[in-house]
Amino acid sequence: MAVGIFDSGLGGLTVLDAVQKRLPDVPFVYYADSAHAPYGVRTSDDIYDLTTRATQALFDAGCDLVILACNTASAAALRRMQESWIPDDKRVLGVFVPLIEALTERSWGDNSPPREVDVKHVALFATPATVSSRAFQRELAFRAIGVDVEAQACGGVVDAIEDGDMILAEALVNSHVDALKRKMPTPDAAILGCTHYPLMQAQFQAALGEDVKVFSQANLVAESLADYLSRRPEMIGGGAGGFLTSGDPKRVSDRATQFLRRQITFEAA
Ligand code: DGL
Repeated sequence: MAVGIFDSGLGGLTVLDAVQKRLPDVPFVYYADSAHAPYGVRTSDDIYDLTTRATQALFDAGCDLVILACNTASAAALRRMQESWIPDDKRVLGVFVPLIEALTERSWGDNSPPREVDVKHVALFATPATVSSRAFQRELAFRAIGVDVEAQACGGVVDAIEDGDMILAEALVNSHVDALKRKMPTPDAAILGCTHYPLMQAQFQAALGEDVKVFSQANLVAESLADYLSRRPEMIGGGAGGFLTSGDPKRVSDRATQFLRRQITFEAA
């Protein structure tokens, strides 16, 4: 057994890297559904079917706890999975809540009524499916009042990153930030609501300007997972970690090695 980390492709590696640094003794199995990425342009039914299939593969690999290191899956599928699909002895957690807790200055499990917070104008950058789910606004409304959210669907960025075309990814980030600024000229904070986007964090920050606080998920999810496992240590299990993909293991390994700057070897799922 190990803790499972799932993403449609390579974006979840930004989360994996942070959780491995925070929890060096915990084994992780990473699953990249590269054959079906990107998820962000799919329907919610499709995202639900693919996410449950990949999560089942991680359960079958011996994981009792799976982190959906994918905002699109967390937004479009997690609630439905929690309502009717996840077996009693397994847990599946998403990546939205730790981010929103940080933005709204809350600690884990603080379920007090929504209140005013420091940030007032928030730019959300995410995939088209995450933006249309409005899951971010829904979770935020449980915790904060008076926050204006402007969401920008960043079409094309995930495909460019998965293809390793960072020049195109940069150009797309600039154009999506411009589009956002036309709707909200001076955001106080920006949320990178897709786990692929930290790979472009410097570009987002440069395009937004230094005054905008950019929230990125990886470290927040790592802290939240460390806290969860301190309360539920039995969910760690034992056994070996590894990397699985539904795509071409050689191609996915090469890209992952390039992104994390260390040798990563994927096996066929
Ligand atoms: N990295 C994922 C996310 O956080 C998925 C991107 C995609 O497959 O479109 O949304």
